[in-house]
Amino acid sequence: MAQKARRKLRFRLRSTAFLIPAWFSPTSELRVAFHRARGVRIAEGVEIGYFVLIDNLSPNKVTIGSRATIAALSAILAHDESMAYTGRGPEVVGETRIDEGGFLGVRCIVLAGVTVGARAIVAAGSVVTRDVAADTTVAGSPARPI
Ligand SMILES: CC(C)(COP(=O)(O)OP(=O)(O)OC[C@H]1O[C@@H](n2cnc3c(N)ncnc32)[C@H](O)[C@@H]1OP(=O)(O)O)[C@@H](O)C(=O)NCCC(=O)NCCS
Repeated sequence: MAQKARRKLRFRLRSTAFLIPAWFSPTSELRVAFHRARGVRIAEGVEIGYFVLIDNLSPNKVTIGSRATIAALSAILAHDESMAYTGRGPEVVGETRIDEGGFLGVRCIVLAGVTVGARAIVAAGSVVTRDVAADTTVAGSPARPI
C-alpha cells in the first residue's frame, strides 16, 4: 500500500494558519501577503483574487512571477496524492510556476509540476495539465492553445 503524504507539523501549521485571510482578505495586497506567509514564493506586483487555493501541503513549491494575475477561485497545485490515496503508487510532488505577467482566468486549475509561461493567458475555467508556452493563450480541459 502506497504511503500518503507526510509533512512536518511546522510546515502544515504555517500553511494552514493563514488560509482564511489568504482567501478572503479585502485587498489583493493582503491576500498576497498571507499567501507569502503560508510559504508561497510570490514576486512583486502580483494580483491574487478571492478564494485562490495554492497548494496546502507544499505551498513553498509554487512560484508566482512578477505582475502575474491569479483570478478568483483558481487552484494551483504542487502535489497529487491520487495514486497514494488509492494505493496505486506514490505521491507526486512538482514545482509549479506562473511566470512573470502570466494570467489565470477565473476558476482555473493548474496541476503539479506545470509552468505557465511569461505573459501566457489561461482562459476562465481551464485545467492546465501541461506547460504553457510564453505569450500564448490556452483554454479548456485539458487546456489547449486557442
Ligand atoms: C481567453 C480569453 C482571453 C479569450 O478571449 P478572446 O481573445 O476574446 O477570444 P474569443 O472570445 O474570440 O474566443 C476564441 C475561442 O476560444 C474559445 N474560448 C474563449 N474562452 C474560453 C474559455 N474560457 N474556455 C474555453 N474556450 C474558450 C471561444 O469559444 C473561441 O472558440 P471558437 O474559435 O471555436 O469559437 C477569454 O475568453 C477569457 O477567458 N478571459 C479571462 C476572463 C477572466 O477570467 N477574467 C478574470 C477577471 S480579470
